[in-house]
Amino acid sequence: MPATFTQTGLLLSLLLGVGQAHAASAISPADLAAENGIPHPAVIAHRGASFDAPESTAPAYKVARDLGADYLELDLQRSKDGVLFALHDDNLQRTTDVATKFPERKAAAANQFTMKELKTLDAGTWFNTAYPNRARPSYAGLQILTLDEVIDIAEANPLHKPGLYIETKEPKQFPGIEADLKKKLQARGWLNPAGTKPALSDAAVGRGNGKVVLQTFEKSSLELLHKEMPQVPKILLLWVGPGSIEPKSNVTFAASGEKDKATYYAKQEPKSKAEFQRWVDYAKRQGAIGTGPSALLTKGGDQSYSDLVQPWMNQYTHDQGLLVHVYTVDADVDYQKVMDAGVDGIFTNRASELLKFYKRPAAATVDQLLRNNGY
Ligand code: G3P
Ligand code: CA
Repeated sequence: MPATFTQTGLLLSLLLGVGQAHAASAISPADLAAENGIPHPAVIAHRGASFDAPESTAPAYKVARDLGADYLELDLQRSKDGVLFALHDDNLQRTTDVATKFPERKAAAANQFTMKELKTLDAGTWFNTAYPNRARPSYAGLQILTLDEVIDIAEANPLHKPGLYIETKEPKQFPGIEADLKKKLQARGWLNPAGTKPALSDAAVGRGNGKVVLQTFEKSSLELLHKEMPQVPKILLLWVGPGSIEPKSNVTFAASGEKDKATYYAKQEPKSKAEFQRWVDYAKRQGAIGTGPSALLTKGGDQSYSDLVQPWMNQYTHDQGLLVHVYTVDADVDYQKVMDAGVDGIFTNRASELLKFYKRPAAATVDQLLRNNGY
């Protein structure tokens, strides 16, 4: 396999005359993943099993773990009193009852609340309202989780310990969060000493070298993460837009007249091939082991963005000796499309479906796992 990949890459480079611009990597993506203790292809449970349970809450993470997902993905923030916690949005309005509990502060950033205040919020009822077909009475009153609590969940199933795939979310809001994260991971035994050999098996993701993967859209945070934790695999997230890859057209969504953002993003593309390559090269230079590009989804929706996993893009990234973990894909048709294009792992809200697609189905259904966990 490695020899085939290398020979094919080299032959293609020679035929296309691009060998001088970027020599093909001497290592296959599968070997590169193994070197870093990362399953290939990887199942990354985006905010937990967030199709089936409220995102970033205990049932979402417990189900993802018990299904056998390789990683529990979370967006890291820090409370006003310095506690690290998991939440995607800047503020609390979409996924909690902040408007009822703290009406005068409902639009405030989540980081303006103490952990004690955050813990009073109901982070589950919104899901029951938004998705009545998947609603459960036990979701009402679910709490926002601290990083410690997500780690507790990851450690609690003796048969499968998933890894943690942690994004520094809007890190400029949280000076020093990279160092705080290092301290927490170290205290919890989730940081291996540099140079540790991976012990990779399906049951050992959370025990090997790739037990933690760090991800960010922000260049400055990637640099700080690498400085704090050089031995931990890192992914630079990519999209087309402000702060990331420069678009070909600068027409905003508001001015575009498109009916929704997915349609708008579908037409957004990097300014040039060189602009895309510049970001991949940057990731490599700053010590990342891969990129996390956006995907264009067949059915659109609010997680459909520019197609940054076109075969030439993945090939270029592989040629630089980097992996590609694409976000966020939930349907078989799109799993197939991105795998055919050459990605090495997928962020998904539906870990149960991706595991089936990869022929690694869980022994139990989502419903059984929710019940087993008391939901
Ligand atoms: O972290 C990868 C993916 O989650 C990026 O998108 O907005 O869901 O954090 P977002
Ligand atoms: Ca994320």
